[in-house]
Amino acid sequence: MYMRNRNVLPSKFMPILKANLADPILEALLEQAHQAALNSYSPYSGFRVGAALRLTSGHVVTGTNVENVSYGLTICAERSALVAAVSEFGPEIRIEAVAVANLNNAASPPCGACRQMLAEFVLPEAPVVFPAADGARTMPFSAMLPMAFEMKLK
Ligand code: THU
Repeated sequence: MYMRNRNVLPSKFMPILKANLADPILEALLEQAHQAALNSYSPYSGFRVGAALRLTSGHVVTGTNVENVSYGLTICAERSALVAAVSEFGPEIRIEAVAVANLNNAASPPCGACRQMLAEFVLPEAPVVFPAADGARTMPFSAMLPMAFEMKLK
């Protein structure tokens, strides 16, 4: 199913097959996401997630999930990385690739809230690499969130 979207990947990224990260940029990004997961603060779920965002400037910004005893205040790894990226480089950033990893050997595609937050900064064709049930998968961001909320004021 994901393979149908292969042709919308930007040419600088080779398509990724299951557990076969042939593109060195994405492979490195996934490793950085994995490293970020080591910093996870997740005493309530035990689910340790890391995210790495590659900006069009070439910079990579990472984040991890930070939980809270009130549970609902928890921030996901992807949004941690996003707020760190905007905080460090400003609101003009554009994200050209996203990688997500976890230390639990489980599937963890970015949640809906993170997709919505990323949508304002990510290029539609940006590859998103994430752990799926059968290994690392990639798909263009536009396929992950085809109809993001937008607010058009008259
Ligand atoms: N989590 C993420 O970091 N990213 C997601 O996209 C979904 C879930 C975190 C939040 C929480 O700390 C733990 O995973 C379990 O839901």
